[in-house]
Amino acid sequence: MGVFASTDDPGSTGHEQVVFCQDKQTGLRAIIGIHSTALGPALGGTRFYPYASEEAALADVLDLSRGMAYKNALAGLDHGGGKAVIWGDPDKVKSEALLRAYGRFVESLGGRYYTACDVGTYVADMDVVARETRYVTGRSVEHGGAGDSSVLTAWGVFQGMRAAAEHVWGAPTLRGRRVGVAGLGKVGKHLTGHLLDDGAEVVATDVSPRALDWARSTYPQVTLVSDAAALVAADIDVYAPCALGGALDDDTVPALRAKVVAGAANNQLAHPGIDKLLAERGILYAPDYVVNAGGVIQVADEIEGFNFDRAKLRATRIYDTTREILQLADAEGVPPAVAADRLAERRMAEVGRLRMIHLR
Ligand SMILES: NC(=O)c1ccc[n+]([C@@H]2O[C@H](COP(=O)([O-])OP(=O)(O)OC[C@H]3O[C@@H](n4cnc5c(N)ncnc54)[C@H](O)[C@@H]3O)[C@@H](O)[C@H]2O)c1
Repeated sequence: MGVFASTDDPGSTGHEQVVFCQDKQTGLRAIIGIHSTALGPALGGTRFYPYASEEAALADVLDLSRGMAYKNALAGLDHGGGKAVIWGDPDKVKSEALLRAYGRFVESLGGRYYTACDVGTYVADMDVVARETRYVTGRSVEHGGAGDSSVLTAWGVFQGMRAAAEHVWGAPTLRGRRVGVAGLGKVGKHLTGHLLDDGAEVVATDVSPRALDWARSTYPQVTLVSDAAALVAADIDVYAPCALGGALDDDTVPALRAKVVAGAANNQLAHPGIDKLLAERGILYAPDYVVNAGGVIQVADEIEGFNFDRAKLRATRIYDTTREILQLADAEGVPPAVAADRLAERRMAEVGRLRMIHLR
C-alpha cells in the first residue's frame, strides 16, 4: 500500500503524515497515522495489539486513521482523522515507562494529533500517557476526564436506529419492533435500556456467561438466544451488532431477517461488496461509523472541558445525520455507506477550504 497521494496512483492512501516511533529500552514500537487535519487536529485512539508484522500494523493504522477522518467529519467535530497503533502484546509489554515514552512521541507532534483509548488501551492508560503529553483525551473522571464513552456511544446508536426506523416504517421509534442485540458489553447494555424504554422488544446474545447473567437479572423481559447465528436467523426487525467487526458477511446477510441494521461495532461489513448485498435484499444499513460516533464526540468534548449535556446534545444529532445520509442515498441511488462517505468528503472540502483564507 502506498502512503503518498498522487493522482496517478489509485492505491495511495492520501495520508498527511505517518510517524514511526521506537524506544528500545521499553520495547515501544508505535506508528501514528494522521490522515487529514483539514478540519482541525487529528483525533483517534491508540490500538495496542500484537500484530503479526510491521506491515500489518502499518496497514491497520492507515486504515483506521482514514476511517477517523470520515467519522469525525460526520460527527460535526473540528477534528481531522488520526489513529495510532502500538505493536506488541499489551498483557506482556505494557508498562508505565512504555506508555510514557509513547506520550512523549505524541507530545512531539505539537498538537497535530490527539490520542485516546482503543482496543487494548484504557482510561487508566491515558492517565499515564497524559503525564508526558497535553494531547490526550478519554481520561478518567479522577483526572478531569469524562470516563467511559460507552454511555454516549449507546445513545448515538439509538438515535441512528430511530432515524433508520423512520426511513423504513415512517416513525422515529422502535416501539413495537423486535431488536436483536449481538453483544451485551458496555455499549450493548446501555442500548438495551434505551430500546426497552422506547417500547421495543429485545432479543440478545453474548458469549460471556457474565453478560448473560447481567441480562437475566437486570432485564428479565429480554429473550436470550444461543449465539449470533441464531439471532441473525430470528424473527427480528432490527439487527444491532455490538460485539466484534465483520458481523455482516456472505453467510449472515442472506440469513438475516431484519429490515434494518444499526449497531455499535466498528467495521461491520466484512468486505466492501456487502453493502450492495444488503441493498439487494432490501435491508437498510445505517453505516457503523456514523451511528457509533458518540464515543468520539465524548472524547472531543473532553478536550474543551467535559460537559455531559453538551456532548449528549451533539450525540443526539446522530439522528439528523443518519436521516440526511439515508435521504441522500435514496436521491443518488447509492448504498448508505457511499452516501455517508460523500457527505463526509463534502464537509472536509467545504470547511477545510476555509483554511486558505489567510490569517496573520
Ligand atoms: N465503547 C465505545 O465507546 C465504542 C465506541 C465506538 C465503537 N465501539 C464498538 O462497539 C463494539 C462494542 O463495544 P463495547 O465497548 O461494548 O465492547 P465490550 O468489550 O464491552 O463488549 C463486547 C461484548 O460482545 C461480546 N461478544 C464478543 N464476541 C461475541 C460473539 N461472537 N457473539 C456475541 N457476543 C460477543 C463480549 O462478550 C462483550 O460482552 C466494539 O466493536 C467497539 O469497537 C465502542
